[in-house]
Amino acid sequence: MILIAAADLNNGIGFKNSLLYDIPEDKKFFKEKTIGGTVIMGRKTYESLPVKPLPKRQNIIMTGNNDKIFEDAVSIHSTEELLEFISGIPEDKVFVIGGAEIYSKLLPFCSTAYITRIYSTRSADRFIPDFDTLENWKPVEKSEIKEYNGIRYQFIKYSKKITLDNWKMM
Ligand SMILES: NC(=O)c1ccc[n+]([C@@H]2O[C@H](COP(=O)([O-])OP(=O)(O)OC[C@H]3O[C@@H](n4cnc5c(N)ncnc54)[C@H](OP(=O)(O)O)[C@@H]3O)[C@@H](O)[C@H]2O)c1
Repeated sequence: MILIAAADLNNGIGFKNSLLYDIPEDKKFFKEKTIGGTVIMGRKTYESLPVKPLPKRQNIIMTGNNDKIFEDAVSIHSTEELLEFISGIPEDKVFVIGGAEIYSKLLPFCSTAYITRIYSTRSADRFIPDFDTLENWKPVEKSEIKEYNGIRYQFIKYSKKITLDNWKMM
């Protein structure tokens, strides 16, 4: 699985069920990476989307509510059910797209992360771990630093080093 997120210098990703920043090239990057694939999101992130479901992608929505039906999307009710559901899909076509709760629960199953690092800070109430200090993760690709409306940002790809422990989980 591939985790994809935009996080600022505090690792903030959201506030009041909205994104913190609106950077057109980041949206384009997200679209280019995920289009044609399967995207996994939490119910709260799904509700925050301006367009639902995300077009040209298989949308999976995680919810504990068995009665909740999402049009043109798949509802999944546990991590175990999710792992079973995606077992036939190539790993590089499955994207974990948030929010904080889903990133945290699915991080152990991810081997790549695309983080758009935004070199700024804003009030946030949702965060991701800091991939620069996360054990077994290392940056493998960095774009140049870009700027939009005075906000600097950079696309960074991280990979997880395979250890005996996480190899046993696979
Ligand atoms: N910057 C970024 O890249 C980015 C990306 C995505 C989202 N965000 C932001 O993140 C925030 C939302 O994140 P969040 O942490 O509040 O919510 P979330 O992760 O989007 O959704 C949480 C919900 O997912 C369901 N869930 C969680 N674990 C589950 C499991 N194991 N099995 C089944 N269902 C499960 C539950 O739904 P029920 O309550 O229905 O049971 C839970 O309330 C927003 O501010 C959003 O804008 C930022």
